[in-house]
Amino acid sequence: MEHHKNQPSTVILVTGARGQIGTELVAALRKVYGRKQVIATDLHDAAAIPDQQRPYHQLNVLDKDDLESLVVTYGVTQIYHLAATLSAKGEEAPLKAWHLNMQSLLNILEVAKDHKLDKVFWPSSIAVFGPSTARKISPQDALLDPQTVYGISKEAGEQWCAYYREHYGLDVRSLRYPGLISYSAPAGGGTTDYAVAIFHEALQNGSYECYLNPDTALPMMYMDDAVRATLELMNAPKEALKERGAYNIGALSFTPAELAIALKMHIPDFTISYNADKRQSIANSWPAGVDDAVARHDWNWQPEYDLTAMTKDMFDHLEPVYKNSNAATMS
Ligand code: SER
Repeated sequence: MEHHKNQPSTVILVTGARGQIGTELVAALRKVYGRKQVIATDLHDAAAIPDQQRPYHQLNVLDKDDLESLVVTYGVTQIYHLAATLSAKGEEAPLKAWHLNMQSLLNILEVAKDHKLDKVFWPSSIAVFGPSTARKISPQDALLDPQTVYGISKEAGEQWCAYYREHYGLDVRSLRYPGLISYSAPAGGGTTDYAVAIFHEALQNGSYECYLNPDTALPMMYMDDAVRATLELMNAPKEALKERGAYNIGALSFTPAELAIALKMHIPDFTISYNADKRQSIANSWPAGVDDAVARHDWNWQPEYDLTAMTKDMFDHLEPVYKNSNAATMS
């Protein structure tokens, strides 16, 4: 990607920068805008962060004063707000998840409004859908009836983003991410995490016990596509973006059994077993896929990775890691 020489004043703050999405999005944003233009923030202690991953600040995004002071100090012009509690973890402490997900978003929106930021990105999720949506493929304008506190916070968040857009002219943009698959940082606390864990367990132990049933199809996406979607949405002309809520974006839809077959192409002896837990009922409330025709129309969304390409890329990146660490353990 080219460095945008015509945008010298863009300064981006990313929350949740050490998470599954943040790790890759920060790297992608720094390629476009330059390292120093992207301020990474998360809960981790700044002392532990290597120089090449700075600028980095420890930030609890529930602390609005700290957030505001970073925005002022750095002259921040855009925020990507990724910090959140995901679906499965949220069910363990619903009020805590609600507080984190909602209050942090409201802090970001308020600071963005008060300091007249250019743009805000905030991710919504397939968790906004519930039992009333079409099981196979959920339309953009489905009735939202989320069954998890995470999903309720995403539905309410979509409304708050629209409110700030309509009442204060804030340019806030949003995507409904499907389950995201990546090798750089672990997924955490979600219902779709099995699709990441399976690679690590397969390479480490040759087997995986899945907490979802074999035929549970869910919408998924490779991280490269998700990062590209995010950058493309944020760079799209404002007039083209007609969707009031967050855009559906689709790429993959597969079941654990189908992913296991794709993985066997690389690890022929791999075995999978199934032992469904509480996450099964969350997965049952979500559709198998989403209709993303509106995103394709408004800002030309196109996924690139299918199941075969995603599985190969995950394997190619993770196999050397485990080969080296298995060799080190045996010697
Ligand atoms: N990956 C998320 C989860 O499982 C869905 O947005 O919670």
